[in-house]
Amino acid sequence: MPNNSRRKFLQNLGATAAAIGAGSLTAMAASNEIKHTLKGEKKVSSNDKIRIAGIGMGIMGFGDVKCALRVPGVELVGVADLYTGHLDKAKATWGNQLITTRDYRELLERKDIDAVIVATPDHWHDTISIDAMKKGKAVYCEKPMVQKISEGHQVIATQKQTKAVFQVGSQRVSSVALAEAKKLYQSGAIGQLNFVEAKIDRHSALGAWQYSIPTDANPKTIDYNTFLKDTAKTPFDPVRFFRWRNYQAYGTGVPGDLFVHLISGLHFMIDSNGPERIYATGNLVQWKDGRDIPDVMVAIFDYPATDTHPAFQMNLRVNFADGGGGGEYTRLIGTEGVIELGWNDFKVKQHKLPEAPGYGGWDTFGTFTEEQQKAFIEDYNKKYSAAAAPLKAATNSYNAPAGYDDRYDHFVNFFEAIRSGKPVVEDASFGLRAAGPALAVNESYFKKKIIQWDPKKIDIIG
Ligand SMILES: NC(=O)c1ccc[n+]([C@@H]2O[C@H](COP(=O)([O-])OP(=O)(O)OC[C@H]3O[C@@H](n4cnc5c(N)ncnc54)[C@H](O)[C@@H]3O)[C@@H](O)[C@H]2O)c1
Repeated sequence: MPNNSRRKFLQNLGATAAAIGAGSLTAMAASNEIKHTLKGEKKVSSNDKIRIAGIGMGIMGFGDVKCALRVPGVELVGVADLYTGHLDKAKATWGNQLITTRDYRELLERKDIDAVIVATPDHWHDTISIDAMKKGKAVYCEKPMVQKISEGHQVIATQKQTKAVFQVGSQRVSSVALAEAKKLYQSGAIGQLNFVEAKIDRHSALGAWQYSIPTDANPKTIDYNTFLKDTAKTPFDPVRFFRWRNYQAYGTGVPGDLFVHLISGLHFMIDSNGPERIYATGNLVQWKDGRDIPDVMVAIFDYPATDTHPAFQMNLRVNFADGGGGGEYTRLIGTEGVIELGWNDFKVKQHKLPEAPGYGGWDTFGTFTEEQQKAFIEDYNKKYSAAAAPLKAATNSYNAPAGYDDRYDHFVNFFEAIRSGKPVVEDASFGLRAAGPALAVNESYFKKKIIQWDPKKIDIIG
């Protein structure tokens, strides 16, 4: 293409893009963005002591306990873990008076413990939660609530029977950002929801769950047999112990670790009970380190129309082999806008379809004779007033204040439920409604089939 024709072509392309609005939303976003700062963590004051214990003191166990102890009136009595190094670290962190044990059941026997945080690998969640509720303890159980769908029904039944306070740890549902996004969604800010898309892409060894293994990991410092629980008896293997997420026997793969956060957030926002059909595919591309799960996964969910939301499709993706370096978002796409969620922040972009269709650019208009173009414009101007012209796209962004931790608010909600008897924000049924479809993604991937899901019974059909 000669240079001046090329310039003309590009100019025309620009005019076309302007006429059809392509790219204009991003441009407007940059120039017209209105920023809002959300309020910070909930204020709490209480003299009413709640004494807790941590069960499973790994990355999340330490994080959860530290966060819980920031809530006024909360005290740590003891911790349980299968690796001596973690028990030593707990004493170094909170003092020698701390009760430490390898056997969580010792903590459940104690009358001076009101609540436990369960942050073990996924395959232990159900057993410890059930044992704890039966011993009269309140339970904060990390996500995914369970490793298998049937275990979830046992947790729900035990909660009903014991009436214990039980909350699942998908902290995002207590985030000030999600609460605000929910309000906007409910006010009709994005019109009719028709698609949800989310991705969590990464490209690092730690992001792909190759966590560090301590040099003193050996059969004396680790109770490997208890870790294995009822899974296949493998010889001592610190890799399995510290990188349990990479194995179907102990973890729940990408769906249970990551999709479950996305599903929990969505269900909270739109008051959904879940999808009716699930299909997943994937591949093990880059992290061939002995893991028996894929590192790239895509899942499609069909959500049926209900009283609270229209029918829509959802597409979730995780790619641990993303040479682009990774990144994440969750988008709720409606006919009049998009809510794009970060973690404790989100944007609402509004883009209403104008009444006037427009003309010119990539259109037959340019092919009309001059005379016909004049006649067309005259006719068009009679049909459409200026008010029917495209509206300017608007973007509002909402951010939690710097340092905001949604997990703190999630713990406040949990402890408030213990103190006041108010319902928790994320109960066992909610937990299984989020974990169940995530686990069904694994079922679809490994069995290579479409899963029919019953959102009312919270189970696979057939
Ligand atoms: N809410 C979130 O954002 C979030 C983030 C990360 C992890 N998690 C969840 O937290 C849980 C723990 O994940 P992690 O990354 O901390 O794992 P981790 O491997 O770092 O820690 C697990 C700990 O549990 C201990 N353990 C194993 N079996 C036990 C048993 N029977 N009794 C007592 N201790 C036992 C191990 O010794 C280990 O210290 C997982 O279910 C994970 O999905 C949640």
